[in-house]
Amino acid sequence: TGRPSYRIASIPADGIGPEVIEAGVEVLKKLASSLNTFDLTFENFDWSSDYYKKHGRYLPDDALTTLKKFDAILFGAVGAPDVPDHISLWGLRLAICQPLQQYANVRPTKVFRGTQSPLRNCNSGELDWVIIRENSEGEYAGHGGISHAGQPWECATEVSIFTRHSVERIMRFAFQIAADRPRKLLTVVTKSNAQRNGMVLWDKIAAEIAEEFPDVTVDKMLVDAMTTRMVLKPETLDTIVATNLHADILSDLAAALAGSIGIAPTSNLDPTRKNPSMFEPIHGSAFDITGMGIANPVATFWTATEMLLWLGEREAGNLLLDIVETVCENGIVTKDLGGTANTKEVTAAVCAEIEKRL
Ligand code: NAI
Ligand code: MG
Repeated sequence: TGRPSYRIASIPADGIGPEVIEAGVEVLKKLASSLNTFDLTFENFDWSSDYYKKHGRYLPDDALTTLKKFDAILFGAVGAPDVPDHISLWGLRLAICQPLQQYANVRPTKVFRGTQSPLRNCNSGELDWVIIRENSEGEYAGHGGISHAGQPWECATEVSIFTRHSVERIMRFAFQIAADRPRKLLTVVTKSNAQRNGMVLWDKIAAEIAEEFPDVTVDKMLVDAMTTRMVLKPETLDTIVATNLHADILSDLAAALAGSIGIAPTSNLDPTRKNPSMFEPIHGSAFDITGMGIANPVATFWTATEMLLWLGEREAGNLLLDIVETVCENGIVTKDLGGTANTKEVTAAVCAEIEKRL
C-alpha cells in the first residue's frame, strides 16, 4: 500500500549548521525526486542560540512532543561565541538526545576515495571503523554539583554514572554492529586500571554480552593505549565501543585520521525505534568560517546517507555515499580537503552526479 514517506525535522541551529543543512536538504530532495521510490518531506525548526537569546531557552515546552511525530531529525551544529558551550550543548543537543533515549551514538569513519589520511602509511581501505559511543550516561550523565561557589575552597564534582541497564544495551548494540560487519571484530575501550568501579562494571558486562555473540572476536584496550593503536595500526581495528567521554575524544581523532572533520557523520539512535533518531555531522558550528560559504558539506551528505540507511532506504543510502565519494575523487572538494570548491559547488556537483546516474 502506497510508497514509503518520511517526515524529517531539520534543526540547522548555529554557525555553519544552516549552511550545511541547506546543502544536505537540497541533495536529499534531489535524490528522492530522482529515485522516485519514496517521499521525503522536511520541516524546519529555528531552535538555535539566536532563539535562546530571544526566548531564554533553546526549546519550547512542546518540542519533544513535536519531534516525536517525525521519522528522523537532521541536526546541524549548536554553539555560539557569546553563549557558554555547556549551556548550548545541554540546552539543545542533549535536551533532545537524552529524553528521546538516543542511547547509541554511531560514528563511522573511513578514508574516502579521493581523500587522504594524514597517516603516511595508511592506504584506502585500511582505515574503516565504526565507533559506538554510549550516549546516555557515563561521564556526561550530568550528575554533580558546585558548592562554596566563588570561595577559595570552591568545589565541584562531575560524577560518572554506569548502570547495568545502559551498559548492557550499548554492549549488545555494539556487538550486533560488529557481528553484521565482515570482520566481526569488536574492541572494547576501557580505563579499568585507574577507574576501578564504573569501568570494572563496564568490562564485566562486555564479557557477559560477548557470550551472546560467539562469532565476534573481542579485544579490550585501555583508552590511552587506544590512541596509539589508532595512529600506528589503524588496520587492526574495525568496530569500537567506548564510553560517552572516551568515544567523544576518540571519534574526533578518528575523523582527523580519516582526512578531515568536515566529512565525518554521526547518528544518535534509539535502537528500540520508539523515538525518532537524530543525525548530524560530527563537527561544530565553526565560527572561524561561518558565513564564508566554504564549509565542507560532505559530513552532512554522509549524515544524510546514514539517515536513509536507518530509515530502511538502503539503495538510496548506498548510492548517495558512492556519489559523494565519486565527487571527492573528481577533486571537487573544499579547502579542508585541500581543494578550492565552495559549499555550493560541492553541492551542485553531487546533484549533477545524482542526475547523471538516475
Ligand atoms: P568545530 O568543529 O566547530 O571546528 C573545529 C575546526 O574545524 C575549525 O577550524 C573549523 O573551521 C573546522 N571545521 C569544522 N567543520 C568544518 C566543515 N564542515 N568544513 C570545513 N571546516 C570545518 O569545533 P570547535 O571550534 O571546537 O567548536 C565551535 C563551536 O561548536 C563550539 O561552540 C562548540 O561547543 C560547538 N560544537 C558543537 C557540536 C555539535 O553541535 N554537535 C560539536 C562540536 C562543537
Ligand atoms: Mg565532540
